Amino acid sequence: MAGVVGWPVEHSLSPRLHNYWLEQYVIDGAYVPLPVKRENLEFVLRALPRMGFAGCNVTVPHKETAARVVDHLTPQAKRLGAVNTVIVRDDGSLEGRNTDGYGFIQNLMAASPDWQAGSGPAVVFGAGGAARSIVPALMEEGAQDIRIVNRTLQKAEKLCKDLAMDRVALRPCPFEMAPDALEDAALVVNTTALGMTGYPQLNVDLDTLPVNALVTDIVYNPLITSLLERAEKRGNRIVDGLGMLIHQARPGFNAWFGREPEVTRDLKSYLLGTLNNKQKEAS
Ligand code: ATR
Repeated sequence: MAGVVGWPVEHSLSPRLHNYWLEQYVIDGAYVPLPVKRENLEFVLRALPRMGFAGCNVTVPHKETAARVVDHLTPQAKRLGAVNTVIVRDDGSLEGRNTDGYGFIQNLMAASPDWQAGSGPAVVFGAGGAARSIVPALMEEGAQDIRIVNRTLQKAEKLCKDLAMDRVALRPCPFEMAPDALEDAALVVNTTALGMTGYPQLNVDLDTLPVNALVTDIVYNPLITSLLERAEKRGNRIVDGLGMLIHQARPGFNAWFGREPEVTRDLKSYLLGTLNNKQKEAS
C-alpha cells in the first residue's frame, strides 16, 4: 500500500500512474491520494507504518516539511532539503529520498540516448525548487557549464552560490541576456511553470540557439509547450516533461512493490488521456 500526500492532491497523476503499473504487473496493492493539511503532515507520515503502508510520495507544499520529519535522508534529499519519496524501513523508521533530479536525467536519456551532460553548455530557465533539483543532477552527470536565466536575478545568484561546485562554471544570467546564453548551448531546460495551461508563455527568442541543441520542458500540461513547439519547428530535438514525472516515480514503486516498472508509450498515452479528462472535468 502506498499513496501521495499533498494539499491539494486531486490534480496529481501519481495515483493513475502507480495503479496502472500495479494492474500491469498483477500486484495486489493500491496507491491512493492522501489530501493532508500542513499541520497533519507529521502525524500522517508517522502513521504510515502502523497503517500497513510501504511508503508514499510527497508533493506540493510538503516536500520541505517531510525532509524535517523523516528519520533518514539520502544524500540528495539532504542536500536539497526536500523529499518526494518516503520509504518505510523494516524497523518502521522513515527514509526520505528525492528522485526529481534522477527522473529528469532518466527522461532525457530515455528520449535521447546519445545525450551527454558534458557535451556543451546548459541553459536553465528558472531558479526555484525545480531548478534546485535539476541543476545538481546535471552537475553530477558531468555538466561543466550551466547558465541560470531567471526573472529575479538575485534568486539565480543565490542558487549559483548555494550549489557551487569546483569544476563547474555555474552562472546567473538576466532574462535580457538569454539570447547570448543560448548561443553555444547544447541543452535548454525550462524549470518554471511558464507555458503551463493558465500561465503566460516563456517568451524567449531561440534564434541564437544551435539547431543541434536539445530542448526540454518540465511542464507536461500541455505536453508540447510553446517553447517545445517553437524549438521543434526550427529543427531542435525536444523532450517533453511527462517522462520526468514517470521516471521520478520508478524508484518508489520498486521500493514499495518490489518490481522495477517500465516506461512505455502506452503508459504515456494513458496518462495524457487522464490529463485531458481531468481538464474537461475542471472546465
Ligand atoms: P518551483 O518549485 O516549481 O520551481 P518556485 O520555487 O515558485 O516553483 O519557482 C518558480 C520559478 O518560475 C522562479 O524561477 C520564478 O522566477 P522568479 O524567481 O523571478 O520569481 C519563475 N517564474 C514564475 N512566474 C514567472 C513569470 N511570470 N515570469 C518569469 N518567471 C516566472
